Amino acid sequence: MSANAPNPTDRPPYSALVSSPPGSPGGGGGSGLGNGSPPGTDDAIAVTPANIVLVVDDNSTNLEVLSGALTSAGLEVWVAIDGESAIEQIHYAPPDLVLLDVMMPGIDGYETCRRLKEDPATRELPILFMTARTDPADRLRGLRAGAVDYITKPFNQDELIARVGVHLQLRTLSRQLVAKNEELRHLNQTLEERVAQRTAQLQKTMEELRESQGLIAAQEKMSTLGEMMAGIAHEINNPVSFLTGNLKHAQSYAEDLIRLLDLYTKTYPDPPPELAKLAQEIELDFVRKDLPALLLSMDEGTTRIMQISRSMRTFARADTAQKVEFSLEEGLDSTLLILQHRLKGKQARPPVVIDRHYGSLPSVMCYPGPINQVFMNLLANAIDAFEERDRPYEELVEDPDRLILTTELIEAANPEDDRVRVIIADNALGMPAEVQARIFDKSFTTKAVGKGTGLGLAIAHQIVVERHGGTLTCESVLGQGTRFIVELPME
Ligand SMILES: Nc1ncnc2c1ncn2[C@@H]1O[C@H](COP(=O)(O)OP(=O)(O)OP(=O)(O)O)[C@@H](O)[C@H]1O
Ligand SMILES: [Mg+2]
Repeated sequence: MSANAPNPTDRPPYSALVSSPPGSPGGGGGSGLGNGSPPGTDDAIAVTPANIVLVVDDNSTNLEVLSGALTSAGLEVWVAIDGESAIEQIHYAPPDLVLLDVMMPGIDGYETCRRLKEDPATRELPILFMTARTDPADRLRGLRAGAVDYITKPFNQDELIARVGVHLQLRTLSRQLVAKNEELRHLNQTLEERVAQRTAQLQKTMEELRESQGLIAAQEKMSTLGEMMAGIAHEINNPVSFLTGNLKHAQSYAEDLIRLLDLYTKTYPDPPPELAKLAQEIELDFVRKDLPALLLSMDEGTTRIMQISRSMRTFARADTAQKVEFSLEEGLDSTLLILQHRLKGKQARPPVVIDRHYGSLPSVMCYPGPINQVFMNLLANAIDAFEERDRPYEELVEDPDRLILTTELIEAANPEDDRVRVIIADNALGMPAEVQARIFDKSFTTKAVGKGTGLGLAIAHQIVVERHGGTLTCESVLGQGTRFIVELPME
């Protein structure tokens, strides 16, 4: 037996009584206790490494007996003859379990155990004390030092193997537990990450939902507004048609009366004083001249009210459930009429010039209400841009604010694929690239709080692209102006 004289300088700091330590010739081992295979079979060697028990005892007879018993149980046995060399060995190559004698030269078993338990690298190693002492205080001391069990000398071989077996199994289980815990920790972390991801996704969806709700609310407002407008236009229509109808009669009655008056004056150039007095009082000459003009302007006024009412109805055409034929040019004109109050100019501002380049578009299948809403947003934005650009009156007269409206048919090889294009261009200040990049974002606005909601173009984009399968693009040159291009399929 070589175990009794370890020499760290010319061999490993431990010697193998039964098997060699890892790395030395003839290394390897039988199947360990509890592994289920008989020891020493080549198969078992290849498949499962044996459990290694380090026996620390200064008594060679003890070592021999213990080694024999453990080896016969299929365990690999390493030995050390004192506490310090045992610690050194354990650091060099850790066994699975340590059988530790209490009374040894040098540091005793308690101290050896204490040092091993103190070191995080060896703390988990199960240590069984071997002692001839049966005093409970001694056993307690051993357990307090960190031992998991003790074996009383002289040994009962079966008990020894059973206890070692139990502790090896416990060690295996506790290693599995650690591995499972680690796995669990990892799973937990993955789960937390996933929860965080999902939460972020949910938050994003919530935000999108909130924005969509804003869009829907704005659209509903528009559609309610549209309905109200259509209602008002309808109500205006009746009294106005009554007025226009009767004005025609009033004009012809007035003409007749004037003719009669003229004939009277001609026939009786010298009226009696009473009549002459009244004629002077009511300024007959003036009334005679002014009445036709007055009636004419009333006629113009009612015609204009009729136009406005018609435009209001065109503009506010209640949202149809299905696409209907609609003239985009009429839509543009009715929208311009609704915006007339902002286009017509004020004291310090000449009116906006409107250049129409209409290409006599055929009717297009679309939802007229929403399409007018698109025109409304684009035109209102251009007017906002004019107003933001504060220019002196003379300059405005020389180079007025200008809206250029173009419509054209884009013919495709297949007539079914024909498209229409509406361009709304202005000569306001244009936008810098960073603004242009965000104009279709919901809630993006450069306007003062309360002035713009930033929804106009987002709504327009949704209507053109999502509802009509068209495109809405913008070209803008800073300092020169902006063009919005709406393209819609004909069908
Ligand atoms: N013709 C234009 N000229 C210059 N800037 C424009 C023009 N049209 C749009 N913009 C810019 O795009 C931004 C977004 O326009 P959008 O219509 O979506 O919102 P808004 O006009 O600010 O507010 P809202 O339309 O809801 O009242 C505007 O704030 C403006 O900066
Ligand atoms: Mg707007």
